[in-house]
Amino acid sequence: MSDAPLVLGIESTCDETGVALVRGLDLLADVTASSMDDHARFGGIVPEVASRAHLEAFGPTLEAALEQAGVALEDVDAIAVAAGPGLSGSLAVGVASAKALALGLGIPLHGVNHVIGHVAVDALVHGPFPERFLGLVVSGGHSSLLRVGNIATDVTELGQTLDDAAGEAFDKVGRLLGLPYPGGPHVDRAAAAGDREAFAFPRGLSRPKDLQRHPYDFSFSGLKTAVARVVEGFEDRGEEIPVADVAASFSEAVADVLVTKTLRACELNEVDTVVVGGGFSANSRLRGLAAERFEAAGIELRIPPIRYCTDNGAMIAALGSAVVQAGLPASPLDITIDSQMPLTQVVMSAA
Ligand code: KG4
Ligand code: ZN
Repeated sequence: MSDAPLVLGIESTCDETGVALVRGLDLLADVTASSMDDHARFGGIVPEVASRAHLEAFGPTLEAALEQAGVALEDVDAIAVAAGPGLSGSLAVGVASAKALALGLGIPLHGVNHVIGHVAVDALVHGPFPERFLGLVVSGGHSSLLRVGNIATDVTELGQTLDDAAGEAFDKVGRLLGLPYPGGPHVDRAAAAGDREAFAFPRGLSRPKDLQRHPYDFSFSGLKTAVARVVEGFEDRGEEIPVADVAASFSEAVADVLVTKTLRACELNEVDTVVVGGGFSANSRLRGLAAERFEAAGIELRIPPIRYCTDNGAMIAALGSAVVQAGLPASPLDITIDSQMPLTQVVMSAA
C-alpha cells in the first residue's frame, strides 16, 4: 500500500479536534485535542465553546500530525473532512479549514460522514473488511445498526435508537446517580463492583411484537425511567442509593439489548462479521458480553482499541482513504455541513 494516496483526515464534529494521516490502510499519524475539560463544569457540551476550541486547536494539531508522520503538507494527495453529523459550529471550523487547504494545495476534498468513520477506522487496526458485514455504531448521539458492503459506496441503515442513544442514556443515569459528567465512563467504573442481577431493568423493544415491528431499532428511554424510579424509591425512603448495583444492572440491560439485537440482525442478514464503533464501545460490559455471546454464535466481532472508538482524525482519514480507493469524485468546494447527515450518505454532495 506504500504507493496508495496520502490522505489527511480532519474531524471536528463535537469536542475533539482530530487530524490524522493515512496511506491505504496504514495509519501514519493521529493527533487529537479535546475541549472536554472546558465543558465538564457545565454538565454538557457548550457548542460555542467547542467551536472556539477547534479554531485554537486546528493549526497546532495539523502541525503535530505532519510531524508525527514525517511528511510535509505538500505530500498530501487528498483531504477528507467530517461534514456531519455533529454540531454545526464545530463542523464549520473543520470544513472551512479543509476547503482552504484543498484549494491552496490544489488537491481533492472529500466531505465524509463521521458516524460511518466510526466503523471505517477498524480497517486500520484489523485489516480489510469482508465483502459484507454489519456495523454497530454506539456513541453519545447514535445507536445504529448498519449493513455495509463497500464502506465507501454501500451503507444501509437498518435501524437506530427511537429515543436516547446508549451513551446519552449512560450520561443521564450518571447524573441520576450523582456522578460527574460525562457519566458514561463513571457508570461503567461503578458497575464493576455491582450485582448485574440486583434489579430487573427492562430491555427496550425486545418483546416478540416489538421484535417484529422494530427488529433493528433500539429504545433506552423506558430503561432510563425505570432506573429513575428505583433511585427515587431509595431517596424517598431515606436510604442510601446502591450505586454499584444500579449501575451494574443498568449496564447489563443496555449491553444485553445491543448484543441480542445485533446477533439477531446477523442471522436475518446472513452476515458473520460485526464491527462495533463509537465512544460507547469503550463500555466494558458491552465488550465483555459481546465477546462471550458472539464467540458462542460463531460471529466474528471486531472492536477497535478504545482510543479509536471516541472521535478522532484516524476514522475520517480511514473513510477518506476508502472513498479515494473507490474512485469517487471529489466534493465541490461549495459543500456545506449537515448536522443531521443521514447514515446512508457516506460523502457530502454538492450544496
Ligand atoms: O463517540 P463519542 O466519543 O462522541 C459522540 O457522541 O459522537 O461518544 C461519547 C459517549 C458519551 O455519551 C460517553 O459518556 C460514552 O460515549 N462513553 C461511555 C464509556 N466511554 C464513553 N459510556 C459507557 N461506558 C464507557 N466506558
Ligand atoms: Zn462520534
